[in-house]
Amino acid sequence: MNAPAGSDRSLFDIPEDLAYFNCASIGPMPRSAQAEIAAAAERRGRPWTISNVEWMDEVEERRGLFAAVAGTDPEAIALIPSASYGLAVAARNLQAAPGQHILVLADDFPSDVYTWRSFAARKGCEILTVDRPEQGGWTQAILDRLDERVAIVAVPNVHWTDGAFIDLARVGARAREIGAALAVDASQSFGILPVDWDAVRPDFLVTVGYKWLLGPYALGYLYVDEAHRGGEPLEENWLLREGSEDFARLVDYVDAYRPGARRYDVGQRSAFELTRAASASLRLMLGWQAKDLAGRLGAITGRIEAEARRLGLRIGSGPERAPHLIGLELPAGAMEKAAALFRDANVHISFRGRAVRIAPHVYTSESDVERLLGVLARVAEAAG
Ligand SMILES: Cc1ncc(COP(=O)(O)O)c(C=O)c1O
Repeated sequence: MNAPAGSDRSLFDIPEDLAYFNCASIGPMPRSAQAEIAAAAERRGRPWTISNVEWMDEVEERRGLFAAVAGTDPEAIALIPSASYGLAVAARNLQAAPGQHILVLADDFPSDVYTWRSFAARKGCEILTVDRPEQGGWTQAILDRLDERVAIVAVPNVHWTDGAFIDLARVGARAREIGAALAVDASQSFGILPVDWDAVRPDFLVTVGYKWLLGPYALGYLYVDEAHRGGEPLEENWLLREGSEDFARLVDYVDAYRPGARRYDVGQRSAFELTRAASASLRLMLGWQAKDLAGRLGAITGRIEAEARRLGLRIGSGPERAPHLIGLELPAGAMEKAAALFRDANVHISFRGRAVRIAPHVYTSESDVERLLGVLARVAEAAG
């Protein structure tokens, strides 16, 4: 029997009378990760205690833990600060000819849209924006727009505003058929939705670490397909060269990068203050994944969806929704009143586009859900 939702709450510093449904914005770090930051702060006051363990070993431990959560090889993973950094690496290493198309989704996250707009301007390409489907899901809407003119398909697994699901296996298969590259921003799904690497085969896949992975801000991750592991990094950091663990010989300059995707690691990737905290969160995520995390969160959002429908609220995501994220569309003009009702009830959600975005995680308890549903009833009444 899997653990019920909410049973892991004591691992977090979340008051009982506060319902946090906003990890799609910032995930709470577990207490164990908070403790690692406190210990690391002490170590940083005593730099003579910092050794190759912190410079190198703990970095590789974090890479390995992320790869385990991802279900892939650590050699494929680069340690990066942000989604935009990972996307910049992808843009640096993907090709497109003038006149070709870069496919993006309507209302996608700005770090993605700006990256591909500037890429398109540099290469003389056109941005092809898939409109929010009126009927049916995003997957078919994307497939309908994919033809030989498309050079890069830049899509998420889940739309960040409302949890709408995109079937990356189908999109990836079609991208390969037409010879397009696939660049994925998985920041709103990673850790919850498994990636079927053999079926999706992304060229690059990026995720932040501070949302669903419950890790520190500024420590993110980039998956790099083998075909691109010999590419051009954004910067030439000394730590990314072979043999840089031997500090006495750093001016014996070497051309070779560290193996795998490590050449794309950001400078100062050792991040002494945060690395162990990230690993603590990843360790917990590994355990939760093994206990059907997506199923647990799906049960919560399923209940919210049923109640929202009963109240006459529209589900923003359309027919294909991810299990962990749900967007409810409010009538125009109801936003301000709704914001006050959520605030007064100590229920933390976010507004994205036309949707109230609701994002539970392992700590979400039965009473959190009741609290949220109570507010939804009042919101529906006010909107009605
Ligand atoms: C889909 C998605 N990508 C990326 C980010 C964060 O981007 P960055 O790491 O470039 O700040 C967010 C934050 O909300 C997001 O929702």
